[in-house]
Amino acid sequence: MERYVVRFLRAALAWLAAGVSLGVAMAVHPAWTIYRTAHLHMLLLGFVVMMIAGVAYHVMPRFTATPLHSPRLASWHFVAANVGLALLAGGFIVRFHTATVAAWLLGAGGTLSAAGAYALAWNLWRTLDHAAVAPSRLTISTRPLRVADRPAAR
Ligand code: HEM
Ligand code: HEM
Repeated sequence: MERYVVRFLRAALAWLAAGVSLGVAMAVHPAWTIYRTAHLHMLLLGFVVMMIAGVAYHVMPRFTATPLHSPRLASWHFVAANVGLALLAGGFIVRFHTATVAAWLLGAGGTLSAAGAYALAWNLWRTLDHAAVAPSRLTISTRPLRVADRPAAR
C-alpha cells in the first residue's frame, strides 16, 4: 500500500477519535455546543473525506489498471488537508474568544482545505483520463455465457 494511502487512513481514524471526543464533551457539557462546527468538520472533512481519499487513492488506480496520475500531488494533498483542517477547526473553536485570530485561522485553514480537495479531484480526474475504456464482455454478449468464456486461470 502506498505511504500516502496509509497516512490518509490513519489521519481519518485520528480525526474520528478527536471528533467524537469533542462530541462527547459537548453532550456532557451543553454550553460547549458552540464548538459544533469544529466537531462536524473534524468528522465530515476529517474522518469521512480523508477515509474516502485514502480508499479512492488505493482503489481507483486498481479499478482503472493505470497508475495514479501524480503520487506527489497526493502526498501534498495529505499535508494540505491535515494542516488546513487543524487550522479550520482551531478557527471554529477560537472565534468565540478572539475574532481576529479566528478570521486568519478560518481563512488559511479553509483555503488549504479547499486546495486539498481540488488536488484530490484533479488527480483522480486525470487518472480516469488514462484509463482504458473497454466494454464489459458481459454487456456485449448476446448469447448465454459458456464455461469457455471464463477468464483463463492464472
Ligand atoms: C460519540 C459520537 C458523537 C457524539 C457524542 C456527538 C455529539 C454531538 C453533539 C452534542 C452535537 C451538538 C448538537 C447541538 O447543537 O445541540 C453534535 C452535532 C453534530 N454532529 Fe455529532 N456527535 C458524535 C458523532 C458524530 C459523527 C460520527 C458525525 C458525522 C460523521 C457527527 C456529525 C454531527 C453534525 C453534522 C452535527 C451538527 C448538527 C446540526 O447542527 O444540525 N457527529 N454532535
Ligand atoms: C474546504 C472545506 C470546507 C470549508 C472551508 C468549510 C467551511 C464551512 C463554514 C465556514 C461553515 C459555516 C459555519 C458556521 O455556521 O458559522 C460550514 C458549515 C457547514 N459545513 Fe463546511 N466547510 C468545508 C467542507 C465541508 C464538508 C466536506 C462537509 C461535509 C461533508 C461540510 C459540512 C458542513 C455542514 C453540515 C455545515 C453546517 C453546520 C451547521 O450550521 O449546522 N463542510 N462549513
